Amino acid sequence: MSGAIDSILVEERVFEPAPGFKAAAAVSGMEAYQALREHARRDPDGFWGDMAREALVWRKPFTRVLDESDAPFYRWFDDGELNVSENCLDVHLSNGNADKTALIFEADDGAVQTVSFRALHARVCRIANGIANLGYRKGDRAILYMPMSIEAIACMQACARLGITHSVVFGGFSTKSLHQRIVDVQASLVITADAQMRGGRAIPLKAAVDEALAGPDTERVRQVLVYRRSGGPVDWQDGRDCWLHDVEQGRPDTCEPVPVEAEHPLFILYTSGSTGKPKGVQHSSAGYLLWTKMSAQWVFDAKPDDVFWCTADIGWVTGHSYIAYGAMAAGLTQIVFEGVPTYPDAGRFWDMIRRHKVTIFYTAPTAIRSLIKASATTPGTAPRHYDLSSLRLLGSVGEPINPEAWVWYHQQVGGGRCPVVDTWWQTETGGHIVAPLPGATPLKPGSCTLPLPGIEIDVVDEAGNSLPEGKGGHLVITRPWPAMIRTVWGDAERYVKSYFPPEFGGAYLSGDNAQRDADGYCWILGRTDDVLSVSGHRLGGTEIESTLVAHEAVAEAAVVGRPDPVTGEAVVAFVVPKDELPGEADAPALAGALRDWVAREVGPIAKPREIWFGNAMPKTRSGKIMRRLLRIVAENGEITQDTSTLENPDALNRLHGPY
Ligand code: PRX
Repeated sequence: MSGAIDSILVEERVFEPAPGFKAAAAVSGMEAYQALREHARRDPDGFWGDMAREALVWRKPFTRVLDESDAPFYRWFDDGELNVSENCLDVHLSNGNADKTALIFEADDGAVQTVSFRALHARVCRIANGIANLGYRKGDRAILYMPMSIEAIACMQACARLGITHSVVFGGFSTKSLHQRIVDVQASLVITADAQMRGGRAIPLKAAVDEALAGPDTERVRQVLVYRRSGGPVDWQDGRDCWLHDVEQGRPDTCEPVPVEAEHPLFILYTSGSTGKPKGVQHSSAGYLLWTKMSAQWVFDAKPDDVFWCTADIGWVTGHSYIAYGAMAAGLTQIVFEGVPTYPDAGRFWDMIRRHKVTIFYTAPTAIRSLIKASATTPGTAPRHYDLSSLRLLGSVGEPINPEAWVWYHQQVGGGRCPVVDTWWQTETGGHIVAPLPGATPLKPGSCTLPLPGIEIDVVDEAGNSLPEGKGGHLVITRPWPAMIRTVWGDAERYVKSYFPPEFGGAYLSGDNAQRDADGYCWILGRTDDVLSVSGHRLGGTEIESTLVAHEAVAEAAVVGRPDPVTGEAVVAFVVPKDELPGEADAPALAGALRDWVAREVGPIAKPREIWFGNAMPKTRSGKIMRRLLRIVAENGEITQDTSTLENPDALNRLHGPY
């Protein structure tokens, strides 16, 4: 991390919005931005209330904007009723968008399929009618374990149409994680596919669902709907399993949207926190949709003829907010991509931008860094070989973008003419929090710039005192906002403890460290907890540690992140075996077995890149594992620091690895 931070702090270039872009932007110039901020500060109820009345269609109007009486359990627009799917689809049937392309789906093998808003609406209605016909109703919960597809988005929308709360599980998570989530949300419906196609390979999904449902406490699941993607063989349980195409077959093309209370949980999305078990982040219907729609319009400066491509998977919050919901409510034509950026070669993204004439491209720094590397090693895949002139705006999300990558993105992909919006936010925030408005905010590479209108942030010390510019501290959000997390599903106490600890005076604690510069610009320095960021995916170090310790050969384990130029961080595990320390000859086999174990128990994305073995963990006198020292070992391959405060300094001498 230290290298990245150093290079961030010396960054001084400023990129003003180009006059043409500024003139055409919805929020044009810093005065317009300041005016919105001032309005929100002066009259928050008026600001949010007017926005909610203008941006959303209500079935029952709300009379109250924000109810803070049970803080931090905030309630927004809570006596109002609406339907999220109606706001994402039906509204476009009557506003001139009916025949506009809603989704352009490109499969792993390059096959392209497009649907208009009218066709997508009909599809969602048929699926919703099919699901309702199976007896599912508002208040039920569904797990979605699906590949990137029109079907996955249609199923999310169909759930929203019926008031069924969904929880999407990323396809890269294992059976065990899937089982955990099925049990935790008490799902009665699971929607999956036979397989997902990635990089020319079919990766089974239904098999993982079968295995998860063979586990305990899953009796509530009555039905498994299966989207036929690969056509490969699947096991079938009659009565429980149904093909998605059979479920929608012959159902009507219209389906009355079920009005839900503004606070009705639209979805639950699991994310890693600082203790072992992932947290089910519960989001609302109205507040969530309002802010994801508004932020999509502001931050991406959405125009009616834009072709928007967010490369995130729907298994993550970015795919929820800026594909399935906010971007759809904003009426954007969107690209949905099944495959991976490097298949058939590392020019895939650029070729797709060229072919589909993408105007707004939103991706993660890890993808940018890997494509920078690829264009150096296989120069034919460099963006300069593709016509990218359709692009007018670039976005970044998920982790800090180092200034070098920012400038490459700006120059090589954006031809120096496209603003780069670096958007800081989290699963818990629902939508963008700190991000530029591209027609207003001067950009500084590596900074996510300023809070959006209506959002109030601060950087504070351990006691919650505001810190001056140049001082790093906890990034907090000091006022509630409509898309904020409502609670941790089934664990209200954990919600309060994790996000609103008393010393922060009621502010939302993000778990990130940040500092501000003299212009008030925000620079994210990294997490304050043990959460790792690997290829933009959020992983809990503690979760991987407890998984390793659950392996029969492991007595103790510690997991740290090692900075990696492409993936941001790499998972490095330190393991004390129960039996004898393996010698150099046996260590690779044990390391391999442990990697497979983590892949099976958590998911392939959590696999340790490197494993070290030792006969003890370095500990402080009070018995805490010194992860700080392990981080140095992971980074340098040896220890150069003073180890005199250790209870057992020789623990480090016996460490061997990496394997
Ligand atoms: O550490 C921050 C980092 O990603 C974390 C949130 O991860 P997740 O909930 O998975 O959501 C990712 C997509 C919104 C944050 O706590 N992060 C996200 N965006 C940025 C970022 N770090 C720096 N700059 C960003 N733009």
